[in-house]
Amino acid sequence: MATTKTTEKPTTEKKTATTAASATNDKSAKSTSNKSGKSGDSEFHEFFVDELKDIYWAEKHLAKALPKMKKAATSPELAAAFEKHAEETNGHIATLEQAFELLGEKAQAKKCDAMEGLLAEAESIIEDTEKGTMIRDAGLVLAAQKVEHYEIATYGTLVVFATNMGQNEVAELLKVTLENEKATDVALTEVAESFINEQAAAE
Ligand SMILES: [Fe+2]
Ligand SMILES: [Fe+2]
Repeated sequence: MATTKTTEKPTTEKKTATTAASATNDKSAKSTSNKSGKSGDSEFHEFFVDELKDIYWAEKHLAKALPKMKKAATSPELAAAFEKHAEETNGHIATLEQAFELLGEKAQAKKCDAMEGLLAEAESIIEDTEKGTMIRDAGLVLAAQKVEHYEIATYGTLVVFATNMGQNEVAELLKVTLENEKATDVALTEVAESFINEQAAAE
């Protein structure tokens, strides 16, 4: 990538209009310039938007799958973790819609083969394990952590891309989602280690 890596640390401030980067990338600049407001990187802007569409599809499908995973869970703790993350996932969808808006793009979903595969795997774990067992829960945690790691990889990269593009507000938004995905992964590890894995091994 022929981008210049910025060392600028994202701040918690919502408004970054005073920075030179955002001044060339805000909506007004965009409307009179090419897609990204900067010359020479419109292809990368399109590539970035395409990746946003991919994770948008992924989040939407995950939002539908999590209630099913909650229903399939044996322990109330895991069911609660899935319920919590289903709500958070709806927040991730709304955040992506904000990111599309900031970029002056229509929020569109583009099929994500990876998430489709991960969710198919979660479904087969439900089919292959017995209801009411801890093996079921251990399997569900495994499936859910694969999903979270996919999201962490995606958002981690998208935050760097957005920062390099000077899209600091977009980067800030996606960073909040990234931190939530990481926290979810940790929470799933904790629930698995607290009792699920041990009981599953004894079944
Ligand atoms: Fe998410
Ligand atoms: Fe997630």
